[in-house]
Amino acid sequence: MAGLRIVGLGGSLREASRSRAALAVAVNGASAAGASVELLDLRELGLPMYSAALEADPPAVVRTLIDTCYEADGMLWSSPMYNGSVSGSFKNAIDWLHLLGTREPPYLHDEVIGLISAAGGTQGLQVVNTMEFSVRSLRGWAVPYVVPVPRATRVFAESGAVQDELVEQQLHMLGEEVVRVAERFSRDATLHRQAECDDTAERVATPGLVSG
Ligand SMILES: Cc1cc2nc3c(=O)[nH]c(=O)nc-3n(C[C@H](O)[C@H](O)[C@H](O)COP(=O)(O)O)c2cc1C
Repeated sequence: MAGLRIVGLGGSLREASRSRAALAVAVNGASAAGASVELLDLRELGLPMYSAALEADPPAVVRTLIDTCYEADGMLWSSPMYNGSVSGSFKNAIDWLHLLGTREPPYLHDEVIGLISAAGGTQGLQVVNTMEFSVRSLRGWAVPYVVPVPRATRVFAESGAVQDELVEQQLHMLGEEVVRVAERFSRDATLHRQAECDDTAERVATPGLVSG
């Protein structure tokens, strides 16, 4: 749908990151579904470690990260599996989003999020489940469809090209799904604002009606 903005966040610090390659395919899926897209590559960003001491005057790269994530209608997150969980660099990016807690609405309020992992083995769903805790803490909504890519070394070439057509389709579909659900959320928000306007108009037009 035109006008929706979907932001991809992830990849590892490895140059030929498979989790970033997976993210790029899903972001393309969102674009094909009509959204405007942006990919925040953790290697390129080079975020400092989260520190409360930096909160008052965060570095420019942190401001870019949090503003871009805040302004999105939906996101796609992708992390490699490191020791049974998300990577430290991915979690660090998520920790910076804590700064959005003072905004109104706070955090990633009502953003729709699609989850991806790339694992050497077959337990990538653990990464996706761990991410979901963070989605909830940030007031987002994870779409039920997820793509934990197993045996990622076989699925992606060093160039980042996907060598498994089924995985490519799944990632593409996840991007489309985030756009589809984000479109429903944005329609609801429009209806909600419309209802508020109607309510205000009624109160103004009805003398003596106590506004609540
Ligand atoms: C520090 C480290 C820990 C890893 N731990 C696991 C693991 O617990 N389970 C697994 O299946 N693969 C593990 N792997 C393999 C990575 O998940 C796999 O190579 C993945 O494709 C890396 O993603 P990337 O190319 O985006 O860096 C580990 C790799 C590294 C470097």
